[in-house]
Amino acid sequence: MLTTRIAVLVSGGGTNLQALIDAQASGELKSGVLALVIADKPGIGAIARAEQAEIPCEVIPRKEPGFEENVLRALEASQAGMAVLAGFLGILSGDFIRRFGKPIINIHPSLIPAFCGKGFYGLRVHQAVLDYGVKITGATVHLVNEITDGGKILLQRAVDILPGDTPETLQRRVMEQAEWKLLPQAAELVAAEIAEEKESTL
Ligand code: GAR
Repeated sequence: MLTTRIAVLVSGGGTNLQALIDAQASGELKSGVLALVIADKPGIGAIARAEQAEIPCEVIPRKEPGFEENVLRALEASQAGMAVLAGFLGILSGDFIRRFGKPIINIHPSLIPAFCGKGFYGLRVHQAVLDYGVKITGATVHLVNEITDGGKILLQRAVDILPGDTPETLQRRVMEQAEWKLLPQAAELVAAEIAEEKESTL
């Protein structure tokens, strides 16, 4: 069975990256191999997690010119067959998505189409959920297209909002109950599909 090489883009603490690393170690993620981590700024927690797991890691600062070109080059050099946005907080252009030409999946910490799109990222999502007063939120893994958080939904899971929740307590519950489960599951689904396609063309 062929395996799909997976590149993971990160911007923060990297707990979703850790969920992928743990899934690879446990065998839940078996159709793909974590081949490269791209961090969009230096000093973030995700870098240490990649190093600890001995996954090659490149820092490509998002604020510097040529970011997308440099990411494309790194993806090509690593022979990535798919990319995972695991807490990546930038928005990739349609041009980037077309040129990469392979599946990109993203984890978003709400039930899309609620609380998503430009400006909804990280704790801001949970703050908006609490401000609105909805009683259920959750997480979504979707394919990335040129519409921010607008690609085909792959997996979703609901999480209760509890009295007294703060953005921080809610973020933690959404991560534990939804994100860290859904992302490895979706990565395996997509990696398996790509590996099967490759095998059928051999
Ligand atoms: C996660 O909650 C992820 O869903 C969110 O950022 C956090 C990153 O945490 N992503 C977005 O808001 C994307 N729009 P992590 O670095 O610990 O995985």
